[in-house]
Amino acid sequence: MKNYDINKHVTGESQFVDDLLSIEGMLYASVCYSQVAHGELLGIDINEALKIEGVKGIFTAKDIPGLNQIGGIIPDEELLAHNKVHFQGEPIAIVVADSQLVAREAVRKIKVDIKKLKVITDPREAYKAGELIVPPRTFKLGDTEKNWKKCDVIAEGSAESGGQEHLYLETQGAFAYPVEGGGVKIISSTQSPTAVQRATARVLNLSMHKVEVDVLRLGGAFGGKEDQATAWGVMAGLAAFKLNKPVKLILPRQEDMRMTGKRHPYSSDFKIGLTNDGKIICYEATFYQNAGAVADLSPAVLERTLFHCTNSYFVPNVKATAISCRTNLPPNTAFRGFGGPQGMFVIESAIYKAAQQMGIDPSEIQKKNLLDEGDEFPYGQKTENCHSRITWQRAEIKYAIEDIRKKVEAFNHSSDIYKKGIAFMPICFGISFTNTMMNQASALVHVYTDGSVSVSTAAVEMGQGVNEKIRMVAASIFSLSLDKIKTDTTNTTRIANTSPTAASSGADLNGKATEQACNEILNRLKQVAAEMLNLNDSSKIDIIDEIVCLQGSKTKIAWNELIKTANMKRVSLSSQSFYATPGIHFDKTKEKGKPFAYHSYGTAIIEATVDCLRGIYKIDSVKAVHDFGKSMNISIDKGQAEGAIMQGLGWMTIEEIIYNEDGKLLTDALSTYKVPDIHFTPNVQIEFLENSENPLGVFKSKAIGEPPLMYGIGAYFAVTNAIKAFRPGMEFKFSAPITPEKVLLNIYSNIKKSVTSA
Ligand code: MOS
Repeated sequence: MKNYDINKHVTGESQFVDDLLSIEGMLYASVCYSQVAHGELLGIDINEALKIEGVKGIFTAKDIPGLNQIGGIIPDEELLAHNKVHFQGEPIAIVVADSQLVAREAVRKIKVDIKKLKVITDPREAYKAGELIVPPRTFKLGDTEKNWKKCDVIAEGSAESGGQEHLYLETQGAFAYPVEGGGVKIISSTQSPTAVQRATARVLNLSMHKVEVDVLRLGGAFGGKEDQATAWGVMAGLAAFKLNKPVKLILPRQEDMRMTGKRHPYSSDFKIGLTNDGKIICYEATFYQNAGAVADLSPAVLERTLFHCTNSYFVPNVKATAISCRTNLPPNTAFRGFGGPQGMFVIESAIYKAAQQMGIDPSEIQKKNLLDEGDEFPYGQKTENCHSRITWQRAEIKYAIEDIRKKVEAFNHSSDIYKKGIAFMPICFGISFTNTMMNQASALVHVYTDGSVSVSTAAVEMGQGVNEKIRMVAASIFSLSLDKIKTDTTNTTRIANTSPTAASSGADLNGKATEQACNEILNRLKQVAAEMLNLNDSSKIDIIDEIVCLQGSKTKIAWNELIKTANMKRVSLSSQSFYATPGIHFDKTKEKGKPFAYHSYGTAIIEATVDCLRGIYKIDSVKAVHDFGKSMNISIDKGQAEGAIMQGLGWMTIEEIIYNEDGKLLTDALSTYKVPDIHFTPNVQIEFLENSENPLGVFKSKAIGEPPLMYGIGAYFAVTNAIKAFRPGMEFKFSAPITPEKVLLNIYSNIKKSVTSA
């Protein structure tokens, strides 16, 4: 079972927005953006640019017919800067020309007059200046204040984690054309077709039914196209609407890197208290989220940080506060894990620090405090079918942890400069959008008279294989071969008012809706079959391998004949079905509820080797036992887990986003921003946890998109442990990514002190 897009990807047949055939009169757009991170926009002079041959139009804020507003959660984001600019890369004008080259040349001729204002790039500085996106939120369980005195060991410190560039292979883009009656159709590279539709309608002052958004597939997204695909879709729509021509807008890689937001960097404080035998009693954390200049999805990302602040551990007394700080950086946004990884890195740092103080291995504390059945999370939900401890135990046995430890010890004993380190990384990730209302999806299924089936859902295929899973659902309900099922584009006219494909929930939500819609048709078909067999009752009828069966034995009626008969009898062969995750709720006034349908669990063991002379290192292996539920498709799920692990490793180790104090992105190309490649890739082994059936997921599976990313956090601590083998007793700053440069600085700062201790 493979993702059915794979052959097309390899041969280059798969179409992305920029591959769509040019149509008569097609124009190309390029975006003029701010080179200043904060300032008053005093004037925009487009006269020189307009003189260039081939330029068809230039649009600024004043050309917008509706509202200049695309904010998804909070209306604080202009499509085009009006009086002020808030970050380097903020769009100011759209240039449309008869070629991409001319459009870009004209952008360079636009003169923008900006009076510079003070730039803030640091979240703590923004906090001090009162620059908050939303009021801070606090999750509480038990009472930390009363219980610190019960703790034998208290460790305090701070932890920093960096941003991360999505680096989807397909850059942001959209293609729009005018349609009859004053509307527009937009082909967008978005995870959220409804968001593009809604924002376009608002900006163009149209009703939503005049805006159609269509998505074939994305060349990757990783959260970067959940909210941030919207601007480009709307801009293409605006230009097409104003000029009454088809307009394509594709961001070149460097502009994409400069103009779009990334994973949120966090700066956090922690305090953890334990008993002498390693039981965690109290945990407090304060998270300063670097939101960038506007809200984007930051409040939702912030919330997921709080939901994951204790990772896979039970802590009876918790107080965690999260603060979304407004800075003059591009608006940071969704990125696989959505704030969860940032929260989990902090408690892992706290545990590491406590272990150092206690002179024990962090894994002793980790293991002792894993969640058990019925344990309460700080948000009030209790674990059900908790697989935290079982994945840890399976990992210890499967990967022979005692042998690994012995080998590493022997290696470190015999090697002076190279040192090895091991770390465990258990994970627990909540599945559902934390905003309960977003957990909805729908499906529209048509069976055509030749017996072939088309399925439309709200799910966007972005390489994660959701279309294949949806085909499997339909094929299985109807008992048809997969080649009879086609998933269609994600389209706002066919599937309305839905949530983005995000939060790892695309297959669950849309798969369930598909299951329902197919069952409705199947029930009608069984009734038709009963009539064909002169039976009153359809309950003993099944379709098995494209044949109608009565009490399990084959009749002469095949699928195609059944469909034709149903059509002759005027029975509908189409169905639309809506799914909303049952049983979830959350009360924000109390910060308590049951926000997640279920949790995803797993444990990884990570090994690394550090060259302590040069600071360079190799992540040797990541060995995980992961709870996939009952996997629908092992190769897709394994691919998702491997990809997520690689992204997690990159975030923690070599991917470093750097802005200078003027808010300019210095790492705006692949020469300065390093992502894992084949040489970096460790030995990755993933074992599927046995006997895990998840009644709350589609076909008893579990969501897989995001959770394994967090195994990458273990790489940080594996590297750190290797350094510790070289310089025992050294003090660490918890600062990710732990680039080779930082490894070297860690080893050789305060060198005098360490030489004496060594
Ligand atoms: Mo995802 S980070 O929920 O788009």
